[in-house]
Amino acid sequence: MRLLLRLLGGIWLATLVVIAGFTYLEVQEERARLVQDIGRRAALAADAVREATEPLVARQSRAGYDRVLKRFGRPDRSIAIYDQFGSVIEASPEVKPALGPLSPLVSEAMSNRGPARGFQDVGGARRWVHVVPLERDDLIIGAVAILLDAQYLESYEWGLWQRSAVRLGVLILLLTGITWLLVRWTVTRPIARMAEWTKQLKAGQPVAPPPDADASLFGSLAGEVTGLARTLARARAVAEQEARLRLHGESVWTEERLKQFVQIRFGARPIFVVSNREPVSHVRDGKTIKELQPASGLVTALEPIVLACGGVWVAHGSGDADRVVGERIGLPSDDPTYTLRRVWLDAEEEAGYYYGFANEGLWPLCHIVHERPRFRAGDWEQYRAVNHKFALTLLEEMEKADDPIVLVQDYHFALLPQMIKRERPDARVALFWHIPWPNFEAFGICPWQEEILLGMLGADLVGFHTQFHCNNFLETVERTIEGRVEWDHFTVVRGQHTTHVLPFPISVATDAVEEPERVDKAAVMAQVEVSAEFLGVGVERIDYTKGLPERLRAIRRFFERWPQYRRRVVFVQIASPSRTRIPRYQALQEETRAMVRAINEEIGERGWRPVVYRERHHDHREIRAFYRAADFCMVTALHDGMNLVAKEFIAARDDDDGVLILSRFTGASRELGDALLVNPYDIEDTADAIRRAIEMSQRERRDRMARMRAQVREQNIYRWAGRLLSELARIPRTALADRQGTTEDRLV
Ligand code: G6P
Repeated sequence: MRLLLRLLGGIWLATLVVIAGFTYLEVQEERARLVQDIGRRAALAADAVREATEPLVARQSRAGYDRVLKRFGRPDRSIAIYDQFGSVIEASPEVKPALGPLSPLVSEAMSNRGPARGFQDVGGARRWVHVVPLERDDLIIGAVAILLDAQYLESYEWGLWQRSAVRLGVLILLLTGITWLLVRWTVTRPIARMAEWTKQLKAGQPVAPPPDADASLFGSLAGEVTGLARTLARARAVAEQEARLRLHGESVWTEERLKQFVQIRFGARPIFVVSNREPVSHVRDGKTIKELQPASGLVTALEPIVLACGGVWVAHGSGDADRVVGERIGLPSDDPTYTLRRVWLDAEEEAGYYYGFANEGLWPLCHIVHERPRFRAGDWEQYRAVNHKFALTLLEEMEKADDPIVLVQDYHFALLPQMIKRERPDARVALFWHIPWPNFEAFGICPWQEEILLGMLGADLVGFHTQFHCNNFLETVERTIEGRVEWDHFTVVRGQHTTHVLPFPISVATDAVEEPERVDKAAVMAQVEVSAEFLGVGVERIDYTKGLPERLRAIRRFFERWPQYRRRVVFVQIASPSRTRIPRYQALQEETRAMVRAINEEIGERGWRPVVYRERHHDHREIRAFYRAADFCMVTALHDGMNLVAKEFIAARDDDDGVLILSRFTGASRELGDALLVNPYDIEDTADAIRRAIEMSQRERRDRMARMRAQVREQNIYRWAGRLLSELARIPRTALADRQGTTEDRLV
């Protein structure tokens, strides 16, 4: 209320000052105009009277004076005639008794031999007086005064002020009404709702923030409150989960346990994560900038770790609005727990290092999908240069940290561990390779295999998803470079340095920290404008390793072999465009679209499409709704280090339902034996798995899903991080003093 009064007081004062100011100016202008007008009229009349009176004064004709007064006199115009001594000879009757005050003007006119004028109060009324001298043969023989009624001037001005007062009143009423409504709708009511919302949150009721908590109006306050509420909800969920686990005597790794573990093992030593893909990129959306979580298993897996432990994440700033938002930012933006440090790459660096060597060279080299790797010397140069650039940034970030822990991610940074370790021997460096490692013969086709292996072996720990990939790597090392591979310890010893090579099957965070939202299968299908009895989903980046064409062929085959399922099953493929500058990826995009079109045309019927293809970026929330509504999920990659879509699907199914159809060529298949395992190249086998998924009894579905959920819950991402960090902690510390030469020498 006080706020409203203050606001209104200000508005009233401003309105008053503006209206009064403008009225004053208007009155001044009007007055000048009216005075000019009355003066002109008086002068004209005075000239006429003078001409008629001059001969009469000379003759001293009393009868003539009466004629003049009658002829030129009017109710609003009086006339007075003076002799050469300034005494009244004759005057209009209404002014005659009161002409005394005019003598100064009369004397002035006669002595100046010219007109004299001004306002005078004569006979109780305000009048405009204009006096002109009368002359004969160059002698002043008298004067004539014209007196015009000027009362109307005052009433006119008064009228102006009155009109303005009315205007002021109406304006003030209107502004008061509008301000009151606006304040009520946009401030008082939303604040009251926000207060009610925070009260409910405090009471532990997980309610969504009020829709009118408009961030643009409340600025950072709304964001802060939302962040605070989220933190509160998280903290409460974590505490509840911990209590539950303690009660059941379970030893599952949780976010809280990882946090405590890191604190006990590493104290205040910060963790540095390096990856090519950033956890959040900022992209322009019309005139606004929005946050986007890229489609990357690596990001899905690592984010919960930095959320739990804090630290610095160094990554390529690839969003088109990243530079606007900043090089070093706190994340999550509403409640920062870690820092993202962005590295900028120019087009040439990105083309050679990312598109070229990493994704046209190493990616097909490590995946057995019959896509020929392309190795170009120029790309290799950029790859080295960008690894060097990231090393410099990382060293800058680690400058003040003693014994830092560095977690390097993936095939984009094979050279980075050696560069870092040379400069900071006190750092404990782990390299986790998220994709498969091929056998030594396949790897042997890489022209820079030695440099890559030496770069990787700079790490204290090299991790893969499976023992099989560790073995492939150790064998590659044994056959390619000099060094001792100790198979019984899974280590590589080169000079003073030992690298441990171990499997760490990566996973996802499974704690349901947020209240699970209800899922209505029909509503989810309605979103994509279909309806059917059974829903299948696939979630992929459009990548040739993911086996999209093979999957579509299997779906078509399924409908051919079991036509009774036509109209009853719909498959939704969520496909996120990826690495689209590489021709092979463009071709795959085209091929996939064409196949979907063909299947829908050939098998589809009026009102039913067998495949819904959604080719765009989807956020986690959208994807989760599909996971939870699906009867089956297809993960049929041709070759995959792990594949976290499989685990995300399982983590999302807290109803213990849904069937997972999983390629046996994924790392995930080693852990998820309760999925329907398929060979994605075998179209008949995959088509049959779809049928089995649909026909599986509810009991079997639940048993299988419950076992897989227990597995994923047990082997979650916190456990993965805990194991990896324990291994790192075991490695003896190397003193900083072991460095030799300059930073540049050591890095090159
Ligand atoms: C794989 C890689 C990740 C990568 C992801 C997405 O999972 O192992 O390092 O981030 O694909 O690919 P992109 O090229 O878009 O980062």
